[in-house]
Amino acid sequence: MRIDVFTQVPHAFAWLTEQKPLATVLGGELELRLLNYRDTTPLRAGQVDDDPYGGGSGMVLRVDVVDAALTAAYGVDRPARVVALTPQGRQLDQPLVEELAAEPHFALLSSRFEGFDDRIVSELCTDAVSIGPYVLSGGELPAMVLVDAVARRLPGALAEGSGELESFSAELDGGLEYPHYTRPASYRGWDVPDILLSGDHARIETWRREQSRIRSAR
Ligand SMILES: C[S@@+](CC[C@H](N)C(=O)[O-])C[C@H]1O[C@@H](n2cnc3c(N)ncnc32)[C@H](O)[C@@H]1O
Repeated sequence: MRIDVFTQVPHAFAWLTEQKPLATVLGGELELRLLNYRDTTPLRAGQVDDDPYGGGSGMVLRVDVVDAALTAAYGVDRPARVVALTPQGRQLDQPLVEELAAEPHFALLSSRFEGFDDRIVSELCTDAVSIGPYVLSGGELPAMVLVDAVARRLPGALAEGSGELESFSAELDGGLEYPHYTRPASYRGWDVPDILLSGDHARIETWRREQSRIRSAR
């Protein structure tokens, strides 16, 4: 799969690309391209945003700049999903992650300051996605959240079996995962449930499913 991220801050992604599981699939199952609006802007001196019509503070990302960036990347043959990252979009959840992970190619558009000229979202994008009902300073963190969530769904990203049984997975009926514990078995009087030390795998499995149901029902 290929994901193209359009951003004013491509170097922000350096940390993410070194982390597993993303690093594991990069260059194989995943091609990640970071595209800077400034590299293709038709305006002088790398300008990409402008004052808002009607007045007010903050700069707005220009529609002609984003259109030029998309044309430079794709010509007229744009990916089926061009996603604007905005707090006003559809809230990201695991079903949306799975939906995007099934795409062969999609683009993520991030903005900064006051956000997008609305025509970018209405005319150039197919989707608008929010990572939650709060406002961040730029679309780079939302893009990283989405890229990471999608990357871990790709073949080979995770150790065999570990991606099938986790919170929000179909295997757990979309519910929450059961609790995990490791050594020490007892710490300051906080004990690991006896069942997990029993070695009885069938009973452990039943207990875990039950714990998952209890957590999901809360
Ligand atoms: C300061 S925000 C703009 C907020 C916008 N003026 C509003 O009130 O809806 C700047 C950029 O950060 C990104 N952003 C901020 N919060 C986000 C969120 N919750 N989900 C997705 N993107 C977000 C978007 O790309 C947005 O255009």
